[in-house]
Amino acid sequence: MKLWGGRFSGEPDQEFARFNASFAFDQRLIEADIQGSRAHAQALAAAGVLTSFELERLDEALLSILKRVAEEPDYLKNRDAEDVHSFVEAELATFIGDLAYKLHSGRSRNDQVATDLRLFLRNEIDDSLTLIKQVQCALVSLAENNRHCIIPGYTHLQRAQPVLFAHYLLAYYEMLKRDCGRLIDARRRTNRLPLGAGALAGTGFPIDRSIAAERLGFDGSCENSLDAVSDRDFVVEFIGAASLIMIHLSRLAEDFIIYSTAEFGFLELSDAVSTGSSLMPQKKNPDSLELIRGKAGRVLGHNAAMLALLKGLPLAYNKDMQEDKEALFDTVDTLKGSLGVVNTVLANVKVNSGRAREAASVGYLNATDLADYLVRRGLEFRKSHELVGRLVSYAIQQDKKLEDLSLDQYSSFTPLISGDVYDSLTLEASLASKAAEGGTSPERVNEALAKAKRDLGYRPTE
Ligand code: ARG
Repeated sequence: MKLWGGRFSGEPDQEFARFNASFAFDQRLIEADIQGSRAHAQALAAAGVLTSFELERLDEALLSILKRVAEEPDYLKNRDAEDVHSFVEAELATFIGDLAYKLHSGRSRNDQVATDLRLFLRNEIDDSLTLIKQVQCALVSLAENNRHCIIPGYTHLQRAQPVLFAHYLLAYYEMLKRDCGRLIDARRRTNRLPLGAGALAGTGFPIDRSIAAERLGFDGSCENSLDAVSDRDFVVEFIGAASLIMIHLSRLAEDFIIYSTAEFGFLELSDAVSTGSSLMPQKKNPDSLELIRGKAGRVLGHNAAMLALLKGLPLAYNKDMQEDKEALFDTVDTLKGSLGVVNTVLANVKVNSGRAREAASVGYLNATDLADYLVRRGLEFRKSHELVGRLVSYAIQQDKKLEDLSLDQYSSFTPLISGDVYDSLTLEASLASKAAEGGTSPERVNEALAKAKRDLGYRPTE
């Protein structure tokens, strides 16, 4: 029996029926739909709309649909249904006849689909949080295994100042920490029950909404029925948070792609996450990371699509909102897939500390340390900056590093430099001097690593 046939005398156009149908993709909500229906049935029974016998039979039938979903891979294939909600109702009817048609009392697909989506997303947020934590552990473990590795830090992609590779990795750890905070925050607002809002005005039966809310593990019910059925903020918030996660992964991907070129040579990606060329036998390409960078664009697209979808929708439910699902599903899949692949990249990457150290030693990355030295000798920083600039220019002409200039050469520029200057110009001294909170000194980085491990409950795998 169709969900809404009575008022119609004409049949829907076949092309429109296909256009209208969402079963091909919203069947993904079937577990959530059944979970929600079981809770609704319980609330209906408590309100006296179903007898306890009817409740029992409905519940059994719902469970047997769930069982078939789990056990029969082809159960949902090639089924002719408008959406997942009508599919479940039709299946119920084949099991228990007309009793199936009592289940929709006091409920609309509008509060039903909003409930399904929230149940679905809540699980996906939890899964995403677990995956992010795995990536954070992989970052920490890579940092631990390369504690002493020094790389050039960049601004404008020009060598700037030396930093510990561990410090660099912990920057991504911090980004992901904020991402977890955003997901946890979004989860809080996702975790409210729309069921009981009916189509838009509320339910016509004396339903205690807290029964379904509690049973489904929601923190409470949505407070306003119009808002409950038309709110998709939680989808927007999740896709927004996912967009930022993807941006962070994409930036890491970009760094690693650059660092693994022959020109940089700091990293070598594992064969497990690289591909070859069909033409050039020597090639080893970082496709895994390029795909992550590319897929970030795709999630940003879903973010824009969701905002555009909701803009200008009149209250309350509108069919436009059916379009939320593919955006959400694809975001979830892309995000989880990307986190998994980044994890594998990090777990298997080889670090060439020698190359990285060499790169950090060439290119006057210690010029700021020389300027700081002069400040400690009493010179104003701006003047010191100017003087060191001239010294760098002189050293370039001489084809020398700053630490290779003689004391005589320094003396011709300023009397403030003495023999101890060379101690300030080493990579180790440069790092050690950045000892203020948040800096790259080994001491600070060790503290940061220890804190990250505590927060993660991290245990080394090796
Ligand atoms: N498939 C629909 C959706 O995803 C379910 C809700 C339909 N409600 C309605 N009144 N047509 O939004």
